[in-house]
Amino acid sequence: MGVYVVADTAVKLSALRAMLEQQYAVTCELLSDASIPGRGPQAVIVAADLRNLENIFALKEVFRKFADVRKRILIIDQKSRLFTAQAQALGATCVLINPVSQGDLLARLTDKDQSDSCSDDALHGAREAATAGAIAIRSMFSAVLSGKPIDVSQAKGAGSRIADSIAQGGLSSCLEAIRRHHEGTYQHCLLVTGIAVDFGLRLGAGKPDIERLYSAAIFHDIGKAKIPLAVLDKPGRLDVQERALIETHPAAGYEVLNGHPGISPEILDAVRHHHEYLDGSGYPDALCGASISDIVRILTISDIFAALIERRQYKPTMPREQAYEILQSMEGKLERPLVTAFKDVALNR
Ligand SMILES: [Fe+2]
Ligand SMILES: [Fe+2]
Repeated sequence: MGVYVVADTAVKLSALRAMLEQQYAVTCELLSDASIPGRGPQAVIVAADLRNLENIFALKEVFRKFADVRKRILIIDQKSRLFTAQAQALGATCVLINPVSQGDLLARLTDKDQSDSCSDDALHGAREAATAGAIAIRSMFSAVLSGKPIDVSQAKGAGSRIADSIAQGGLSSCLEAIRRHHEGTYQHCLLVTGIAVDFGLRLGAGKPDIERLYSAAIFHDIGKAKIPLAVLDKPGRLDVQERALIETHPAAGYEVLNGHPGISPEILDAVRHHHEYLDGSGYPDALCGASISDIVRILTISDIFAALIERRQYKPTMPREQAYEILQSMEGKLERPLVTAFKDVALNR
């Protein structure tokens, strides 16, 4: 099997060659002068520092040329959520962190399906994050029901774990883990958190904004703790009274969290206003246009999409393509450029 190896330094290149050349026909080139080898390789391995902009341009080109090669391994220098997400956005099917051992690299290459081997790790991490998230949300809901204080740091910690699992394994494995293992409102809150984080990463948000997003998302429906389960989980259409009851949950969530230590004004705003629309047709305050913050706009899109694709016992799961079409049809209610940017999250990531 032919393996095409590219690195941004000669040292990395020779280390990778030494690991691979006994078992593979290896073609090595520096990233700065990478070209297409004569015959298409069966795997591409790139080692590069993503802090260097020139590397990113060159890397994009390499992965674009080898888009049909199934195994595209990118070895990066820093273990960082943003760099991992960036590596996936550039087209890597698997991301490894330097230093990489020969055993690990060969294992990645010899697995029958590279994407499967990577997603096994990712799915495991995603399941653990989803479980921690479900525990945190369950304890928040029971705290609200019994009038006790909410454990804000546990909830934020769970949001952070979901963010890490998305950065390392992508959105799909996270959604899969959540939908397979959790039901109802917990599933919904976890899905919104995962989708909002991935959307934030897609938009290039920095760490503080990602933290704001997962915190807002994990708390956004806390007011549903005040709604009877018979209404919350009712299959089929709600009547007028039930709909009115459901629509009390943003203000109820605001009341629960208002004045709570560790809850910022931005989180409060997001909890209260995540059902507002730009045209003023939302609730509870019928806000419109500029009164709706960026975080709320991102959260609202993530919330609607999550509600459409979540898995419930009484309804089939809507395909992501169809859910995205519904978002596109909500003309005037959602910010159009944000919906356009969301396409990548909805369909590809
Ligand atoms: Fe909600
Ligand atoms: Fe929601």
